[in-house]
Amino acid sequence: TIHSVKLIDIPKVHDERGFLAVIEKDTIPFSIKRVYYLYDVPTESSRGGHAHKEQESVIIALSGSFEVVIDDGKTKKRIMLNKPNQGLYIPTHIWREIDNFSSGSVCLVLASTEYNEGEYIRDYEVFKSQI
Ligand code: TYD
Repeated sequence: TIHSVKLIDIPKVHDERGFLAVIEKDTIPFSIKRVYYLYDVPTESSRGGHAHKEQESVIIALSGSFEVVIDDGKTKKRIMLNKPNQGLYIPTHIWREIDNFSSGSVCLVLASTEYNEGEYIRDYEVFKSQI
């Protein structure tokens, strides 16, 4: 359910030269199989619009900001991401949409699986019927 969606603090090291954030074993609750990122996204775009049967994800606003709407089929929640050292953990079977991308924003996604279109649920009615 939506309660298993969690914000994760990514440990960071700060000195007069700036910040360094580290993701390593145990920072996120799965081992990373794939990393992808969205950039040059027009403000009016809506990305996502799917759930996963197998993939768990952590979404990070590496630069700029955007909003993630998460939906377990019963409850929806809108979460703004705007910190490069904060990740949003999304388990399987959660519908997500991402919008309101700020100019120059970068949306990094850490994924627990390799890309497999077969494990996507891209039809909202199908998603609802599977809960
Ligand atoms: P899509 O799932 O529509 O992106 P979003 O998460 O924003 O909804 O993916 C866009 C296209 O990219 C689609 O044709 C599938 C392809 N794609 C890959 O080839 N590999 C990947 O790892 C991902 C995430 C997408």
